[in-house]
This record gives sequence, C-alpha cells and structure tokens, in this order.
Amino acid sequence: MAKVLMVGVGGMGSHHLECWRKMPDVQVAGICDVYPGRAQEKALDGEAVFTDMDDALAALPDIDLVDIAVPSYLHRALSCKALSHGLHTICEKPLALSYEDGKAIFDTARENGVCFMTAQVVRFMRPYAALREMIRDKRYGNVMRAAFRRLSGTPVWSWENWMLDEQKSGGVPFDLSIHDIDYIVSVFGMPDNITKHRATCSEEGYTDAYTVTMQYGAAQITAEAGWYNCAMPFCADFRVVCEKAVILYDGKQMTIYPRGHESVPVSVDLSAVHKSEVKGINLTSDDGYYEELSYFKECALNGKAPDFVPEKEVLAVLKLAEGKTDQPAF
Ligand SMILES: NC(=O)c1ccc[n+]([C@@H]2O[C@H](COP(=O)([O-])OP(=O)(O)OC[C@H]3O[C@@H](n4cnc5c(N)ncnc54)[C@H](O)[C@@H]3O)[C@@H](O)[C@H]2O)c1
Repeated sequence: MAKVLMVGVGGMGSHHLECWRKMPDVQVAGICDVYPGRAQEKALDGEAVFTDMDDALAALPDIDLVDIAVPSYLHRALSCKALSHGLHTICEKPLALSYEDGKAIFDTARENGVCFMTAQVVRFMRPYAALREMIRDKRYGNVMRAAFRRLSGTPVWSWENWMLDEQKSGGVPFDLSIHDIDYIVSVFGMPDNITKHRATCSEEGYTDAYTVTMQYGAAQITAEAGWYNCAMPFCADFRVVCEKAVILYDGKQMTIYPRGHESVPVSVDLSAVHKSEVKGINLTSDDGYYEELSYFKECALNGKAPDFVPEKEVLAVLKLAEGKTDQPAF
C-alpha cells in the first residue's frame, strides 16, 4: 500500500485527493493545508491533518509519495522540501514561474535519487491522447493548421486571490496557456518560430487574453487562452486541419471529418473514468487526473523515470513561457 501526503487541498488538491482515494493500492496518510480547518474538513477517518508541511513530514516518516497542489509561486519551495526528504513527488503545473526554479526542482530530485513529475494533465486526457496518436502515425497526413483553445471566466475563487496576482500565478500565460503549449511541444517538438499576443484589462475585474502562434515549417499552430471578466463557462477544445481530414474536439465530442467520406465520431471512452465532486474549479474533463496520478505512482514505486512528461520538455516550455525564445531548442 503506497502512502500519500497531499499538500494543498484547494480546488485542485481536493480533486487529486478524490483520485488517490479511488486507487486500491493507495492510502492517503496525511493532508496538509495552511488554511485553518481546510485539511480537517477534507479528511476522512485515518487521514492525519496538518497546517504545516514540516510537521507532516516529521509525523509521517513512512510516506511514499507527496502530491503538491499549492499556489504556483510555492511549487519550488515545497517540492524541494519533499524531494530533500527523499520522497517521490508530483507537483501541479505550472511547475514554476521561471526556468531557473523549474530546473532547481529537477536537480533536487536527481540529487536525492527520487522520482519527480510535473502534473501536465492534458497529456493524459483521452481526446488529446487520441489526437497525439493520429498525428504521430500520420493516418490523415501531415498537420497543416491547428488551433487549441482554453477559456474561462476570471478565476476569483483562489486562496488569498493568488491567481490574479501575476507574481504568484504568472497570469494566463503560465497558469492556463501552459496546458496547451506543453501539449503542442510534446507532440510537435520545439517550434521554428513563436509569436505571442497578450491584452489585459484590470478595470472592474480582470481580463487576460493571450494567444501564442507556433510555426512548424508551413504549419501554424495556435494556442488561445483567456480569463474573461464575465460568467462565461470554462471551455477547452481543438481543431486540427490535416492533409486528409479535419479533426474537431468541442470539449465533449471528438469527430473526424475525412476528405471525401462521412464524418466519424471518435469514441474516447470516459465510462470508466473518475467523476469529480469538486466544484469551483476549471476541470477540463475528468479523465486525465486519475491517470496522471496513477502513472506517477507506478513510475515512482517501480523505479522508472516518468518519461511521459520528460524534464527536457517541461523545462523547454518554461523557457517558452518566459519568452526566452533565444534559448537553444532541446
Ligand atoms: N491541472 C489543472 O487542471 C489545474 C487546475 C487548477 C489549478 N491547477 C494548479 O494547482 C495549483 C493549486 O491551484 P488551486 O486552484 O487548487 O488553488 P487554490 O487557491 O484553490 O488552493 C490552494 C491551496 O493551497 C493551500 N496552501 C497555500 N500555501 C500552502 C502551504 N505552504 N502548505 C500547504 N497548503 C498551502 C491553500 O490554503 C489552498 O487551500 C496551482 O499550481 C494551479 O496552477 C491545476
């Protein structure tokens, strides 16, 4: 039985907690959150509660895995703390708000000989996994154009409103767009060229509209992400134009429109998938989180590197997000 310490049980951590509890070979040994009463409120019988991570690590010497889901500006400090205790660790995206901080986390994992993974969940979501296979095996020819989209109402629900503090969340480029940028880099590699457009407005609320255009030869791939100051529901979707088909995902259904043939709905079987009770957070679709945590657990317990989310890609994406496009591609 693998014992997990869950650190941070706001919107995302609460959902992780549900996923861990559904795994038959996992025991949630402890929950830590600085917000008074929050860990207590989330804990079930037998799950120890803490408001300080040092206390949790001291009280639970036989932990196997640590899951960090705290505000992004704390990722480096808390991940390195867990790794320095010799504990396998997964940390939410964005791994860090700079390449330097991200690299320090991976270096600490290496120095301590433990497994570390960034929770880039979109890689594990079934429509995106299906698309990756279609692009890789070129069954519809080369990609000519692709557009990924991820939009939501402005997140006003975070602890101490940290998400709307650019210094703490990195705003839309780091907090939201990074999902699609990471996916694009994982499928297509580093772009030949990249341009970014961003418009923000903080009057009577906060709107942050961001579009990244990545050029791969003649193919243009865009990632549009935004927080809009209105009650707009969250949406994440894609449109991929290949030589022999157009592939659409509208956030619920994925459909192939092959040249000269009838459209084909793609079965992305969500029947066995964990459904969340967590409200007040943008959950794209519920399938990826369980699978990402389960994959991390298997890698950690079997001494394997989590190659599905490789360090070189995570760090390359941080460079792109920082605007360090003069850095050499990996
Ligand atoms: N993968 C995804 O789809 C996704 C979605 C939302 C958020 N996230 C990421 O998850 C992370 C958390 O975001 P959130 O939406 O849950 O934020 P949140 O504000 O809802 O929750 C953060 C929690 O961390 C706690 N916390 C703060 N400092 C702490 C500390 N030192 N020790 C223990 N707990 C501490 C807070 O009390 C709060 O409960 C962020 O990095 C965010 O970018 C990922």
